[in-house]
Amino acid sequence: MRKLAIIGYGQMGKLVDELAGDYGFEIVSRIDPQKGTEVCAGDMNGAEIAIEFTEPGAAVNNIRKCLELGIKVVCGTTGWNDKLEEIIKEVTKHKGALVYGSNFSPGMNLFYKIVESAAEIMNHSEDYDVYGYELHHRHKKDSPSGTAKQLAQILLSKLKNKEQVVYECLERKRTDKEIHFASVRGGEIPGEHIIGFDSAFDSIELKHVARNRKGLAAGALQAAWFLLSRQGCYNFRDILGEL
Ligand SMILES: NC(=O)c1ccc[n+]([C@@H]2O[C@H](COP(=O)([O-])OP(=O)(O)OC[C@H]3O[C@@H](n4cnc5c(N)ncnc54)[C@H](OP(=O)(O)O)[C@@H]3O)[C@@H](O)[C@H]2O)c1
Repeated sequence: MRKLAIIGYGQMGKLVDELAGDYGFEIVSRIDPQKGTEVCAGDMNGAEIAIEFTEPGAAVNNIRKCLELGIKVVCGTTGWNDKLEEIIKEVTKHKGALVYGSNFSPGMNLFYKIVESAAEIMNHSEDYDVYGYELHHRHKKDSPSGTAKQLAQILLSKLKNKEQVVYECLERKRTDKEIHFASVRGGEIPGEHIIGFDSAFDSIELKHVARNRKGLAAGALQAAWFLLSRQGCYNFRDILGEL
């Protein structure tokens, strides 16, 4: 069994705990502010690798501390992309290892590819206009979701007639070069992402619906196993084929 630390003992951290044994990991540390534990040599108990699911304001610092302690990290927390360049440099400096990604579900990563292809096809038709929206449970701390941002970036990079994404409420007319991507929060919805292409004649919608969050925890554990024998920075999307 390989030694794993769980950083963040919320919904995702608990699921990782439940499944870790099936993936060959022994949990040697659970970092949970409620229990007064933190990422430090004394509390990490010799972990080789950590799976981090906390919140945007905490993730970057947790990754940094793990790198300083020589612990590899799989970080599923979203909303810290603006610090990615900085973190990549630190991974190189410490000869460390990191997997990060906005969505650890294999299905969502297929959905990214489907949306990419759809956008390429839509470049050949001027009749269709694109939109997106996502739904998540009422406990979710970030909005839009990291997955929504990833999908919007895919659309932006592929659609020739779009230059900007707007996530906020629009109290004006949308411009032709904008993509509007909305977020709804309610109940216990694990996560739904919808991309639509609409014309005067018909409408095409692509939809990904997560049934539960176990697939996401399993993806994080597979990524952890992948990382044990590697160094460097990896986006979950790029390693999916090897997991
Ligand atoms: N990549 C993916 O596939 C994926 C999938 C699901 C979720 N996510 C993302 O993962 C993150 C966590 O999601 P979740 O649903 O598990 O959230 P959650 O249930 O709110 O759990 C977050 C946990 O992190 C703890 N925490 C906060 N600051 C911490 C710190 N400095 N050190 C250690 N723990 C800390 C919180 O403790 P307190 O309650 O005491 O503050 C809480 O227990 C979110 O950013 C979410 O968007 C990503």
